[in-house]
Amino acid sequence: MLNAVSMRRTAQFGDEGDEHQEDGSKTRKQLSIATRVTNYLTRAGYLWPILFLAIVIFAIYSLFIRSGNLVCVSSISSFDRLSRTRFFGLDGLESDFGSLGVPWCRSKHGKTIEWTSKDLLQGLEAFVPIYETRPIKNNMYGMGFDHSFGLWFITRWLKPELMIESGAFKGHSTWILRQAMPNTPIISLTPRHPAKYLLKGPAYVDQNCTYFAGKDFVDFGNVNWSKVMKKHGVNDSSQVLIFFDDHQNELKRLKQALKAGFSHLVFEDNYDTGTGDHYSLRQICDQFYIQGGGHSCFKDSDEARQRRKRKQFWEKAVDINDLCGPHEAWWGVKGYMRDDFNHTNKQISHTQHFQNSRFVESIVDVYWELPPVAGPSLTQQTRYDPARVSNPIVEDGRFGLFQRLGLSRLEETVFNGYTQMVYVKISLDEM
Ligand SMILES: C[S@@+](CC[C@H](N)C(=O)[O-])C[C@H]1O[C@@H](n2cnc3c(N)ncnc32)[C@H](O)[C@@H]1O
Repeated sequence: MLNAVSMRRTAQFGDEGDEHQEDGSKTRKQLSIATRVTNYLTRAGYLWPILFLAIVIFAIYSLFIRSGNLVCVSSISSFDRLSRTRFFGLDGLESDFGSLGVPWCRSKHGKTIEWTSKDLLQGLEAFVPIYETRPIKNNMYGMGFDHSFGLWFITRWLKPELMIESGAFKGHSTWILRQAMPNTPIISLTPRHPAKYLLKGPAYVDQNCTYFAGKDFVDFGNVNWSKVMKKHGVNDSSQVLIFFDDHQNELKRLKQALKAGFSHLVFEDNYDTGTGDHYSLRQICDQFYIQGGGHSCFKDSDEARQRRKRKQFWEKAVDINDLCGPHEAWWGVKGYMRDDFNHTNKQISHTQHFQNSRFVESIVDVYWELPPVAGPSLTQQTRYDPARVSNPIVEDGRFGLFQRLGLSRLEETVFNGYTQMVYVKISLDEM
């Protein structure tokens, strides 16, 4: 029956078409061919399988077009929050953490930190109200919320007898150390005394702190530490916590700390490979044998493609052109070991870089990178790329928890300064 109807219709088209033969002939011809093909397929029993195939091809094609559009939208307005969320999706953001690898320095004896995620959550709850009372509300060029929390948490956990900081700026980190340990002495080494900043605006000067600053400034590597410690009544250097936020080559600082017998160190700016103004522990330990470590400078590689895409969404994401220098040198920053706010830098071979990592790993007992406090869909941070970072303390999607901890009360800008702060414990035995 259906066949008979369609044949009659063919005849009708033919009749009507004759009236407009001049301009309609092409259409008419196509219609009749299409009809003939349909008829043939129907008779041969192929019509439904072919229709089904066409629908599948159409569905795949539309999906392709949609994702293509999203890439275009986001490239027009980079770092656009909405397009980022649309591109990755909320679940995508969560599972996205660490997708390009999170290098770390292997511990000599496989030791790890004592604290748990529960301790970190409890710490966050206690710290938010403290942070809200900070004297320097806008600490641009200094620590933001994540690292302030990290320094406070680690210090409170370790309870050192003496705290030493190198790089104080206006004194925000001094204030954080003081909140963690109200009665413990601090030594602060910084070229410009924080009191100088007080003349222009908010700054913090601590009453129980010895400042090596201004005309009394001495670099950490040139201090006679046994003399200074004796003066402070401290005999055991393993009871001292050192906080470095002075943008110096961390390999140099590590060797200096080791020489003085210090074992608990915190490095504020633990820059990722290809970024930053000094050679960091994370850079040093970024090696081929580390998961996500070592890099391909091949422009058509999966890594290159992913990095290119991520650069559209995260300000500090590093694409393959930023990562790789001449002769495919990706270690440090394009094969350079930077120092002193990048005022000096030195080209190193991969062999030297590898030897540096072997040295670091021969003395490190514990290496722990502070995770970001919360996922980007909660903090709205747009700077660090989650693909190179471990899972946050408060994961994306957990807005209730984010709110309960008081984190939603803070301005968004305080979450922008995360650079993988790291706590390192040096092993003093077998030295
Ligand atoms: C990023 S700021 C420190 C921020 C501060 N810790 C905070 O959280 O607010 C870096 C500081 O290191 C200081 N600095 C530069 N060279 C230094 C050195 N060799 N030793 C110690 N501090 C240094 C700079 O003067 C500056 O105050």
